[in-house]
Amino acid sequence: MPKRIPVFKPFLCKEEILAARKALELGWLGPGSYVKEFEESISKFLDIESSKVIAVNTGTSAVHMALSLFNLQPGDEVITPSLNNIGDFQSIKYFGATPVFVDVKEKCLTIDPSKVTSLIGKKTKAIISLDYASHLHKYESVRAIAKEYNVPIIHDAAHSFGSRNSNYEMVGSKSDIAIFSFDPVKNITCIDGGVIIAQEKEHADRLRNMRQLGQMQNQKKLYSNNRSFTYDVEDVGYRYHLANLHAAIGVEQLKKIKTIKKKKQLIFSNYLSGINNNNIILPPGLDGDILPFIFVIRVKNKRDEFIDYCNKKNIDTGIHWQPGHQFSYLKSCKFKDLSVTEKIGDEIVTIPMYPDLSKKEQNYIIDVINNFKT
Ligand SMILES: Cc1ncc(COP(=O)(O)O)c(C=O)c1O
Repeated sequence: MPKRIPVFKPFLCKEEILAARKALELGWLGPGSYVKEFEESISKFLDIESSKVIAVNTGTSAVHMALSLFNLQPGDEVITPSLNNIGDFQSIKYFGATPVFVDVKEKCLTIDPSKVTSLIGKKTKAIISLDYASHLHKYESVRAIAKEYNVPIIHDAAHSFGSRNSNYEMVGSKSDIAIFSFDPVKNITCIDGGVIIAQEKEHADRLRNMRQLGQMQNQKKLYSNNRSFTYDVEDVGYRYHLANLHAAIGVEQLKKIKTIKKKKQLIFSNYLSGINNNNIILPPGLDGDILPFIFVIRVKNKRDEFIDYCNKKNIDTGIHWQPGHQFSYLKSCKFKDLSVTEKIGDEIVTIPMYPDLSKKEQNYIIDVINNFKT
């Protein structure tokens, strides 16, 4: 048996360690020149102006700040899939607002646009739609509904950084507001980090101050490792800035994204062609130029047994995620038809997929899964 295979493994090499060392030796630990470099690298990568890129300390902060643009009040509602990350639900709850859960489509497990409209009401203040695992959602369809009802839409692209949509545009580059996460398990990591893309200048300017407690700092000064001690505060603010150390790691990670993409695409297709077990439902193939994030399979009826079986074979697994409407804290939130989420909630399992997963390990995992009997 091979040694334990984790679900995720960061693709960190000596470049990240050197960059972290340099950032520490610089002695300016807060937001500064490395944050500027990180934002510029992201803007170049996405082919958008750097003024639209706002780096923050986590993806959750990015969601929270994006929602802050829309003046949410207690009792307001935000529509989002029940199959979403807890960070999004908590961000909604921070305002005393409540998530309203929408179902996903069975094929890709992304938001079902046909089930959104019936959830929109007077209290709806935003929609958060997301890409899931290794598949993009129909952003334009959800956006069209949001526009029709004059509701802002936030595109949570935490899973899809580095992918292109069907128009061959970088994911997030054209969304009204998009967020990315660069947490420890994402395709590229800052250890912890996030980015908001805001198309409107007014949003971008507000977010830039908001991430540093609302302090209206001179950005040029900050980006050259300096700061002012006198400033005005005009708006709500959080301590959500990205630190130089994390940005320095992010800059190096971004240089490797082509390699990461190639390696993960190969693993994805190896799994798709190799796994063949009647009790397992595989995800659809990659639809276009996708940087796969996680490989989510569905195990019919026997998920716990499957997880236990993999564990005994030294293969770690994950669950992304438990449906939101089933958490005690969120049980009273509104929803209508969640039939697909209910169905797949007890079936989904994430199996290991990371750039350094060797062919031998991949084939071992395939064999183990193919030999799973119920
Ligand atoms: C879809 C989605 N949104 C938001 C987040 C929150 O990002 P972070 O972990 O950087 O706070 C995650 C994290 O996994 C996520 O998967």
